[in-house]
Amino acid sequence: FIREFIDYMALHKLNVLHWHLTDDQGWRIEIKKYPKLTETGAWRNGSIIGRYPGSGNNNTRYGGFYTQAEIREVVAYAARRHITVVPEIELPGHSSAAIAAYPALSCFPGEKTVIPERMVSVATRNAQKAGAVKMVQETWGVFDDILCPSDFTFNFLYDVFDEVTALFPSTYIHIGADECPLDAWKKSESCRQILKENKLKDEHALMGYFIGKIRDHLHAKGRRIIGWDEVLDADPPADAVVMSWRGDAGGLKAARAGHDVIMTPNSPLYFDHTQSMNEDSVTFGGYNPIENVYNYEPVPDGLDELAAKHILGAQANVWTEYITNTAKLEYMVFPRMAALSEILWSPKEKRNFADFEKRLPAQFDRYAFIGVNVSK
Ligand code: ACM
Repeated sequence: FIREFIDYMALHKLNVLHWHLTDDQGWRIEIKKYPKLTETGAWRNGSIIGRYPGSGNNNTRYGGFYTQAEIREVVAYAARRHITVVPEIELPGHSSAAIAAYPALSCFPGEKTVIPERMVSVATRNAQKAGAVKMVQETWGVFDDILCPSDFTFNFLYDVFDEVTALFPSTYIHIGADECPLDAWKKSESCRQILKENKLKDEHALMGYFIGKIRDHLHAKGRRIIGWDEVLDADPPADAVVMSWRGDAGGLKAARAGHDVIMTPNSPLYFDHTQSMNEDSVTFGGYNPIENVYNYEPVPDGLDELAAKHILGAQANVWTEYITNTAKLEYMVFPRMAALSEILWSPKEKRNFADFEKRLPAQFDRYAFIGVNVSK
């Protein structure tokens, strides 16, 4: 299906696939030096039922991962269609799966993973009763157990990124850095020591230090980091690219500060949000109808010419926690992908939603011809 999706992207003249490969609920890329990332981290004992915060746990083991051979094949397949695949390895938050595999990555390796009480699977409850400590998360959301800024973690990440960069020739490597509570670092004695040793004033500065070390490691290989817009709180290195997801504000601020920027505001460019008011299956809450996608301006008003040059482009995101089959993924993406493509490739003065709408029936015919499921 990933190959099929790459074909659909090529058809729409989209040229970058951002592949989110790690998160709290699963680690999806084989790393040879750390086999437990996929032996342990790629599997969870169950998933929440229904929209977050959910109504229970389905108690069904779920997981899987891409081997390095599969990834190489996908990257080559995409390259033949002029599409670059940008991998994302999340740090320091959204790392529960990595921590379940290697508890030493946590500042508190002996503390049990907290899964909301009513939402935990029977298997995990029993395992923790029998002494298991760290578990892959089974609910969505944001979690306090994050990577500790220790030598162990940095050496781990350097090794992981060495394997990742060998697989992905992309100049840009996404390092996540979104939705990261800093309470664990505040509570940790070893973090206090690291602050002191490095003359850092607080946990935000420590985040900057963390990102800076990963940036330096990747920079030495000729790569550039991308981070979600939260990186702006950490005074990121000048060459860090900022991905603006919580609206346009982060992107505007970053562009004015001289960072290159990718615009992917959750409203309207998250394609996991609904596109009609009466969806018949569970989706993420927001409402992003196709006219909102079409009317989005990737270079926001209020940027001078110099800052506007820092907007590299825009991107739609489609997170799949509520997408259980490929037909539904197609339904979420089509025809909004056509609107995204047109706004990215057409000058502002040529864009006209009424005209686009008139051309949509022909586009639906093309979708029917290639056999994809669309939202009508
Ligand atoms: C994000 O959607 N948390 C980047």
